[in-house]
Amino acid sequence: MTSSENARSRVVLITGAAGALGTAVAERLAGEGATDLVLCDLSAERLDATASAVKDSGSQVLTRVVDVSDAAAVDEAVAATVDRFGQLDVLINNAGVLSSSGRIHNQPPEEWERQLKVTFMGTVHGTTAAVRVMRKQDGGGSIINTASVSGLTAWPYAAPYCAAKAAVIHLTKVAAVEYAKERIRVNCVCPGTFESAMTADIPEGALPSLTARHPLGLGKPEDLVGAFSYLAGTDSRWTTGAEFVVDGGYAAP
Ligand SMILES: NC(=O)c1ccc[n+]([C@@H]2O[C@H](COP(=O)([O-])OP(=O)(O)OC[C@H]3O[C@@H](n4cnc5c(N)ncnc54)[C@H](O)[C@@H]3O)[C@@H](O)[C@H]2O)c1
Repeated sequence: MTSSENARSRVVLITGAAGALGTAVAERLAGEGATDLVLCDLSAERLDATASAVKDSGSQVLTRVVDVSDAAAVDEAVAATVDRFGQLDVLINNAGVLSSSGRIHNQPPEEWERQLKVTFMGTVHGTTAAVRVMRKQDGGGSIINTASVSGLTAWPYAAPYCAAKAAVIHLTKVAAVEYAKERIRVNCVCPGTFESAMTADIPEGALPSLTARHPLGLGKPEDLVGAFSYLAGTDSRWTTGAEFVVDGGYAAP
């Protein structure tokens, strides 16, 4: 179904949309029909590739180069969304960067700051801008944060990333409670390790033990999209403040 066939397509903004998970989620949601997409990332070229991946779905697509650590740029992307589509129904705060590998005493202050600016404040900026729009909408909206099992369990040698993801999980819960009355649901997905540019840099020597810590093995972006689909859809209308662990069993022991 295209937006022209449906009086009110849902409008979904995804950050980190040019990455592995962002692209897979865009494809899944576009494939469900009656969905228009705003795809945000750092690179226009890689955004075009994601837009091409959904071109046959019938979705209208707006791409925006946005650095999520820049509050004004995120505000502009949300304003452009409302200008173009008149609403914002679903925000997926998905942009993130992995820490350089090292124990806590070897992590420079710049690495902590980078994680806070991109992984955490990027989510804060997205949430703030989206809530301002969604509060005025009859149906509220759904905000989905891509967190990580590393925000729930200790993932050694990446403390700045883990701490930033833990902050994202707690922000999710507070926002869920603050905005429930305005029908804005806020949830997060906590993936285990899956294939992407981010994990391509994991040293080969570390892979066997990392794989062994996932009883179902390492994942692929496609293994995660169902959780995003549920949280973006009406079946999750009574779900808020949840941390959806999708991790091949990593966090179970
Ligand atoms: N890959 C994993 O194993 C794994 C596990 C748990 C959580 N995650 C999370 O999943 C999300 C998606 O990551 P991925 O694995 O698809 O990696 P990816 O590197 O393929 O995608 C991340 C995307 O975020 C974008 N990005 C980075 N900084 C940005 C910024 N300042 N502004 C806007 N965009 C920015 C990158 O350009 C990239 O396209 C991230 O939040 C990541 O932390 C990944």
